[in-house]
Amino acid sequence: MALGVTALCCSVWCASAAAAADDADIEALLARMTLEEKAGQLNLYAPASGALSNPALHIRSLAEQEADIRAGRVTGLFNGAGQAAKRRAQQLAVRESRLGIPLLFAADVIHGFRTVFPVPLAEAASWDTDLAERTARAAALEAAADGFHWTFAPMVDIARDARWGRGVEGAGEDVLLARRLAQARVRGFQSGEGGLASTAKHFAAYGAAEGGLDYNSADLSPRTLREVYLPPFKAAVEAGAAAVMTSFNDVAGIPSNANRELLTGVLRDEWRFDGVVVSDYTADEELIAHGFAADGREAARLSFLAGVDMSMQSGLYLLHLPALVQGGEVPAARLDEAVRRVLRLKKRLGLFEQPFRGLEAPEPAARPEHRTLAREAARKSVVLLRNQGGLLPLPKAGLRIALIGPFADEADGGSAADLFGPWTLFPGRAAPVSLAQGLRDALSDPSTLKVVKGSGVNEPLPGGIAAAVSAARRADVVLLALGESAQMSGEARSRAGITLPAAQQALAEAVAATGKPVVVLLRNGRALALEGAVRDAQALLVTWFLGLETGHAVADVLFGDVSPSGRLPVSFPQAAGQVPYHYAHRRTGRPLPPQDPGSDFKTRYIETPNEALYPFGHGLTYGRFDYEALQLSHPRLPWGGTLQVKARITNRGAREAEETVQLYVHDRVASVTRPVRELKDFRKLRLAPGASAEVEFTLRSADLAFIGRDLQPVVEPGLFDVWVAPSATQGLRASFELAAP
Ligand code: GLC
Repeated sequence: MALGVTALCCSVWCASAAAAADDADIEALLARMTLEEKAGQLNLYAPASGALSNPALHIRSLAEQEADIRAGRVTGLFNGAGQAAKRRAQQLAVRESRLGIPLLFAADVIHGFRTVFPVPLAEAASWDTDLAERTARAAALEAAADGFHWTFAPMVDIARDARWGRGVEGAGEDVLLARRLAQARVRGFQSGEGGLASTAKHFAAYGAAEGGLDYNSADLSPRTLREVYLPPFKAAVEAGAAAVMTSFNDVAGIPSNANRELLTGVLRDEWRFDGVVVSDYTADEELIAHGFAADGREAARLSFLAGVDMSMQSGLYLLHLPALVQGGEVPAARLDEAVRRVLRLKKRLGLFEQPFRGLEAPEPAARPEHRTLAREAARKSVVLLRNQGGLLPLPKAGLRIALIGPFADEADGGSAADLFGPWTLFPGRAAPVSLAQGLRDALSDPSTLKVVKGSGVNEPLPGGIAAAVSAARRADVVLLALGESAQMSGEARSRAGITLPAAQQALAEAVAATGKPVVVLLRNGRALALEGAVRDAQALLVTWFLGLETGHAVADVLFGDVSPSGRLPVSFPQAAGQVPYHYAHRRTGRPLPPQDPGSDFKTRYIETPNEALYPFGHGLTYGRFDYEALQLSHPRLPWGGTLQVKARITNRGAREAEETVQLYVHDRVASVTRPVRELKDFRKLRLAPGASAEVEFTLRSADLAFIGRDLQPVVEPGLFDVWVAPSATQGLRASFELAAP
């Protein structure tokens, strides 16, 4: 069935004029729908795999699924189905159901589709919002060409506890960086022809899980919720995100999926969000496990009345909403409101006019330019933490190199997943480039490379260390490929510790004992607590999970084809016991010296300094950047006015490099204690050797707002410190006064 033709979407989102036309069409359709058909538009599930129906897993048989579609009892399918299965399902929906309402096809397109880009936390290390927009756009094009319309991304949860497994899917610990990346990713997914509707997830405070334990309770103050965890969602909504997904956790005892204060009070009433709220996978049914609902009927009622429009996978809305409306427990108007939002989403995606978008032609071959983009993104995600004696970059010839470790060569019994990282559901047929392959492709004489596994990820390898030590002794330099497998981060992959597995640490200690120069190449989905020979290696590169072009990108950095430019989006602590850890912490009443150098009463652990081993924003390059001549346009920032902050940055190194210049602020005295620093802006600067440039930031009084005692944003006059810095613990400092209004 086709509603009246609106202006064909030049992008996923039609202009507001066309949106008005949507309403008349949609109201007419709504008026024709039965209660069950309305509930059907709010019922989303994963396609039957052909397996027999499995009530425990809610997997339906194909026959049941097709009967649901014909009867208008399902609004869309997610993940699972290929082009042919989606085409078949859509044919049933538009040609055999009573109203012919097209299905939505959704997927977890998190960091690429066929072309796998670096995991989102890696890409966050690039601090490059343009890059994030381009990779999201590329992923959207590929997924749309396979017939998908909607992605369950970007994940915008702030993560400050490295034990939590899902930090890998987000943008790290900082609010500003997370906000800017959220907006870039929403724009990338939704912009242009053939975009995807995007979903800001998981609403809310999912990353605040106690103990960093996935799905655990988040018990935090309303002020921290509003100051830290909500802003990236608001940024995504402001960027036009089509949907918001709830989170599994409770917030101070109220499960997010039934949290009316958040789902309606904040999202609808305060932020005026008019898109679709979808539950996470059976999150409505899980209200029973939370002990918040007695049964499925109550779970459906509580979720729906709290503001969740669409139910994912549980089937509870289809099962219970008609009776709840007929029994007067759910207003009919609330049901129409939710169905209207879903129909509007389908309309804005052009599904009524083009239900078979991406399903009418075989999926095109992967685009070469996307592979190039994957290499660019991977290069920019690598963070150089340490480079003692300028060991890096290495020459491409004349060195005997030993590449040692469980992540040296996935061809050697490893898994492509360990290059792709978590949430890679649709990889293309092209094999990802391992470190070994990338190095061989780069070296003048590949025979100078010796590859030894040395250890398993978690288990020692019989004879592995001996073989590794032997190879190290014959080498001029050792590359240690250590870290986490893809199975060690992601959903339900929280860790009680954040150090390397003992087997890998033992391998590192044995190799380092040979006295050869060691470069550690970390594979990781979180900040790690680095120890012993790993921590003390001459050079340390954080390579996260870099995707399709891993090996080429790491080789590009190792051999200096590009200078590393990544900056940490998460702090690397000294010890695992410091987590949860982030740089924007408050001062406390007993700060560290120099206030009281003699006192024993300090806010610190007795055995570990409070500072991070490597702070947020840290990253070295092959240049050497000096920060000079910090100056403010005037010592007072007029209320409602602006203040310019300038500094001169010079590359004193011998190579061109890119610096990420960061602007931090500290409010010295306020009605609520303020963090020691907060990132307020950043700028990327590429400078040739010897070149200088002036960087200028503009501060407005609104930039100094915080959540006040009444939980409303407030700006207070007074003294502020400002830094222009290369990380959260360095930089040039000045101070200014914000004048009273
Ligand atoms: C999962 C995840 C969510 C994902 C959804 C659908 O449990 O929490 O991020 O989008 O299910 O796969």
